Amino acid sequence: MAAPLNQAAWLVEADCPLKVDVAPLPTAGSGELVVRNAAIAINPLDWHMRDAGVFIQQWPAILGCEVACEVHTIDLVSGRPQDGAFALYTAIPADKAAILPDAISFIDGVVIPFALEAAVCALSPKERGSVMPGISTPALGLPYPSLEGPASSLGKTLVVYGGSSSVGSMTTQLAAAAGINVISVTGTHNIELSKRCGATQVFDYKDPSVIEKVVDAVRKSGFEFVGIFDAISIPETYVHDFAILAKLGGGHLACTHPPPPAADVPANVEAGMIFAVNDIVTPVWREYVTPALETRRLQRLPPHTVVGKGLEQIQDALKRSKAGVSATKLVLVL
Ligand SMILES: NC(=O)c1ccc[n+]([C@@H]2O[C@H](COP(=O)([O-])OP(=O)(O)OC[C@H]3O[C@@H](n4cnc5c(N)ncnc54)[C@H](OP(=O)(O)O)[C@@H]3O)[C@@H](O)[C@H]2O)c1
Repeated sequence: MAAPLNQAAWLVEADCPLKVDVAPLPTAGSGELVVRNAAIAINPLDWHMRDAGVFIQQWPAILGCEVACEVHTIDLVSGRPQDGAFALYTAIPADKAAILPDAISFIDGVVIPFALEAAVCALSPKERGSVMPGISTPALGLPYPSLEGPASSLGKTLVVYGGSSSVGSMTTQLAAAAGINVISVTGTHNIELSKRCGATQVFDYKDPSVIEKVVDAVRKSGFEFVGIFDAISIPETYVHDFAILAKLGGGHLACTHPPPPAADVPANVEAGMIFAVNDIVTPVWREYVTPALETRRLQRLPPHTVVGKGLEQIQDALKRSKAGVSATKLVLVL
């Protein structure tokens, strides 16, 4: 039987439109699967990488970090495959994959992977590592989500800033499933969504009293304050983070982008940036994702928005992602 034709959306150089063209069919290295992608998702990281060429090790490049797919081949012998998601076929590490229950469609399931990886990297590392010179990863040291429900309280409160984003929604879900009391901050129209993710209280980031309200809610929880996971990590959110941390006596500040320079971070704040690929997530992939999806303990939130069909549509989808979304993950069907 002839080998199937692979195609990918290639990035030939930074800040250029993607070009759909033929691509080699990936071969699986040790511990990898080659998969036929059914749905791919667009993440802000994709347009950051396209615009600036960051994190790209080999040109031309295939971007994209999450897929919902069918397994094509398992071959534990051959060498390095292409591993970007913006292609018909991709090689993925088997320990960063989980079986999607039959009741869940590919377009629904594809909202999970990258946010899951980021959320566990925000919550669970016990020791600080290095993302880049001068920037450490955070070490909140919180437990993995539990399949037993409802989780008993751990007596800890975490603030999730940007609770309606993909990463913020997932961090809220996993923290709540680990028994952590989550107080989140979202746009006013997304308060209900964040509560569905498990936040006990949600405040609007445009409310002029948001800092006081969050601080008051943390104090009234009566639990140990862990700190803040800031899913947005931009100058205006850092202003709020530091104001909240100052009133609560400091704590962790886990960011999705580099935190402000060390000189601007108070001594009682441990700031770090997550790096969302880490073996620490493997047990969650292996033991939690499939059963938690089956029991609906893990919800596919925020919901997807299908923005097209085919690799040719990725360029427009990146534009739409860069313009900003509210509580949704942009998804393409292949
Ligand atoms: N370091 C890493 O390893 C890593 C990994 C994954 C993602 N990231 C980064 O993390 C960030 C979030 O990614 P994502 O995919 O979760 O983003 P996303 O879902 O595209 O984020 C959209 C959400 O951002 C919220 N938002 C925008 N401005 C806000 C503000 N000032 N305060 C609070 N919420 C605000 C919006 O909330 P409302 O609609 O409610 O207003 C919206 O729901 C991106 O910058 C991404 O590049 C980093």
